[in-house]
Amino acid sequence: GQVRRRGTPWWHGADERRRLLALAQTGTPRYVYHLPTVRARARALAAISAVDRRFYAIKANSHPAILRTLVEEGFGLECVSQGELERVFSVLPELPPQSVLFTPSFAPRAEYEFALARGVAVTLDNVEALRNWPELFRGRNLWLRIDLGRGDGHHDKVKTGGKASKFGLPLARLEEFLAQARKLEIRISGLHAHLGSGVETAQHWRQVCDELGGIAERIGSIESIDIGGGLPIPYSADDEPFDLEAWSLGLAEIKAAYPGYQFIIEPGRYLVAESGVLLTRVTQVVEKEGIRRVGADAGMNALMRPALYDAWHDVANLSRLDDGAEELFDVVGPICESSDVFGKRRRLPAATAEGDALLFADTGAYGYAMANTYNLRALPAEEVLDGNGDDGAAD
Ligand code: LLP
Repeated sequence: GQVRRRGTPWWHGADERRRLLALAQTGTPRYVYHLPTVRARARALAAISAVDRRFYAIKANSHPAILRTLVEEGFGLECVSQGELERVFSVLPELPPQSVLFTPSFAPRAEYEFALARGVAVTLDNVEALRNWPELFRGRNLWLRIDLGRGDGHHDKVKTGGKASKFGLPLARLEEFLAQARKLEIRISGLHAHLGSGVETAQHWRQVCDELGGIAERIGSIESIDIGGGLPIPYSADDEPFDLEAWSLGLAEIKAAYPGYQFIIEPGRYLVAESGVLLTRVTQVVEKEGIRRVGADAGMNALMRPALYDAWHDVANLSRLDDGAEELFDVVGPICESSDVFGKRRRLPAATAEGDALLFADTGAYGYAMANTYNLRALPAEEVLDGNGDDGAAD
């Protein structure tokens, strides 16, 4: 079929490059987010008419400017902790509670209390919560997360379905859940499934949609069907961009078979991954027994994805982007762990040297969000570019 290619990344633009090089001088490691790219991805999803409502999974990147941008683009926000709910309502105090979903996993009772008091849509995914906290949930309107019996995604560690996964109510316990809900006069108005992250096949959601549609018919009180997030992005030049068209055609077919429901998606990665880069500077270039290593001043504490999932991020030497002569280097960080490796045998300018600005691409999702202070290294800084040549929103 037709070969799809990734577009040129925003940071190849001459203005953006200049801006990034200047930022690298003011302090690294530093995440930089390009809001026009966030808007472009938001608009691509908003154009899909088979989807009635869109929520952004803020766990991917909860920077205030990104939350504001996506709400401006018509997205609601999906939260999984009290901290995320507090972030949302502090950045966007006017946001109506109907624009917020609370989809936690094994959260303490107090967080459900907090969410219910704020009036956001709360999702449960087990019978035990109803049994143990009946008075908390009595008479409420709630959503239910189903385990469809399988997971999917770019790595085993991000699959969120099937027997080995802690997420979701198995279908075998649906009647038990509904009986308990009836006893407590709870109305189940939303149905949810999210099988994993970085799912490659566009037909995945069509299938999820179909299964949830069938379950919704059985339950009877369902108004909203949330088919989760999980949309992938092309991290490497070999990855094909996600086929949004095939995705939306599949959804449209299923939607026609289940009229009367609101269909919802809640992606994180798709909206923000490509908007973000991690800027670092080269600390040392060392040759050891035939392997040349470039050290970055950000380690696995700043960007966990390679260490945790063997994830690929393109690495570029911004200071020498146009250098022709390249060599292979392993790219490592300063953390005292063998897993502190961003990439092996990466092509970088042969002249790469201390102080060069090194960029890790497509790190806008699950980058800063998962950063930590291991080895007592500071958290990375963050910066926003709004596309007008100057910095975007403050904070
Ligand atoms: N909805 C629910 C219930 C989720 O658990 C998640 C992600 C999303 C939506 C958004 O998924 P997305 O569209 O971003 O794939 N740290 C991993 C990804 C973990 C995703 C966790 N849940 C990574 O860096 O690949």
